[in-house]
Amino acid sequence: MYVTALGLVDFRSYQQAEVQLSPGVTSFVGPNGQGKTNLVEAIHYTATLGSHRVATDAPLVRAGAPRAIVRTEIRAEYDRDVVVELEINPGKANRARINRSPVPRPREVLGLLRTVLFAPEDLALVKGDPSERRRFLDELLTLRSPRMAGVRQDYDRVLKQRNSLLRSASMARRQNRSGAAEGQLRTLEVWDSHLAKSGSELLATRLELLESLRPLVSSSYDAVARGKGNARLEYKSSVRLEPGVTSRDDLAQVLLDAVREKRQDELDRGVSLVGPHRDDILLGLGDLPAKGYASHGESWSFALALRLASYELLRADGGEPVLILDDVFAELDSQRRNRLAELVAPAQQVLVTAAVGADVPDELAGERFDVGDGTVRRA
Ligand SMILES: Nc1ncnc2c1ncn2[C@@H]1O[C@H](COP(=O)(O)OP(=O)(O)O)[C@@H](O)[C@H]1O
Ligand SMILES: [Mg+2]
Repeated sequence: MYVTALGLVDFRSYQQAEVQLSPGVTSFVGPNGQGKTNLVEAIHYTATLGSHRVATDAPLVRAGAPRAIVRTEIRAEYDRDVVVELEINPGKANRARINRSPVPRPREVLGLLRTVLFAPEDLALVKGDPSERRRFLDELLTLRSPRMAGVRQDYDRVLKQRNSLLRSASMARRQNRSGAAEGQLRTLEVWDSHLAKSGSELLATRLELLESLRPLVSSSYDAVARGKGNARLEYKSSVRLEPGVTSRDDLAQVLLDAVREKRQDELDRGVSLVGPHRDDILLGLGDLPAKGYASHGESWSFALALRLASYELLRADGGEPVLILDDVFAELDSQRRNRLAELVAPAQQVLVTAAVGADVPDELAGERFDVGDGTVRRA
């Protein structure tokens, strides 16, 4: 699949922008702060309903404007054309239209466009907090099966409710209001089972995803680093996972048991201590963890391997995702730069941003746009 056109109204720095795109490589070149990332961020947002730079929608809307509109025209498999329009309304419900028809929820657009984005922020996948790696997994599993967006939303809602209940239960206990505390404990049990249900669904899907990613990350790492790097992935759960225990029901039971075991701790601390929101992926190089041990270059190779593996996986599912390389070449030494370029050049569509044209390797000399003064012009 590839994007054939992007239209923006009041998105980030753009009052209005229209860009026609072709398959193959397209690069957006211009000085820093001119709006290159803003363009590809809009495309990635259409695929994931999230930004790689911010956690909320508000910064996506041009300062002073009430809402932003992102229109993305997609040529999908079998030459199907799809137009996705998103209206971003901070503080209010966003709206979406598919081929000009309104849909009940923005979530309906998930799956229509699939992107894999490489960005300077990716180094945090290796060096950053567990939340970065959880987001990596969850974003990818939602691209693969859009219905997981609902599961993730359910799980977040359950956590919120459960945490607020834990807080008030621990308060009631401290104030010796035993009647209140007892009632809250009974309610808590209901939320335990909700947590186990949507938590096990998320956990099971993550474990499956990790199994599929494992060989692809290893081979991608070797391709980027030119050698046998022995890059490894391991799921690190907040609960003890026995080998072979992978069905939803089994995992739900494991979560439920663990929750009961941690009851006292949870009441003392007033937060949910068990579930996929506490999990992590261990990234290892040979026998050592990457975090804290890998060199800067090795960490970059690992981050690139995670993205390249995502690309391979989505491709194997059927249908090429659009690759977005946002300002990554400036981050890489010339060897990694050239290998990355070789690996992505054959993709159906590659969108590259760079401050300096010379940073973009020759393999990726495609169509070029100059970005500056609020406009995007074909060079
Ligand atoms: N919501 C917004 N409203 C107006 N301007 C914005 C908004 N968000 C970002 N910008 C501006 O966009 C510019 C950054 O654009 P960006 O695409 O990140 O640049 P680059 O070309 O370096 O990738 C900055 O000048 C910033 O002030
Ligand atoms: Mg940028």
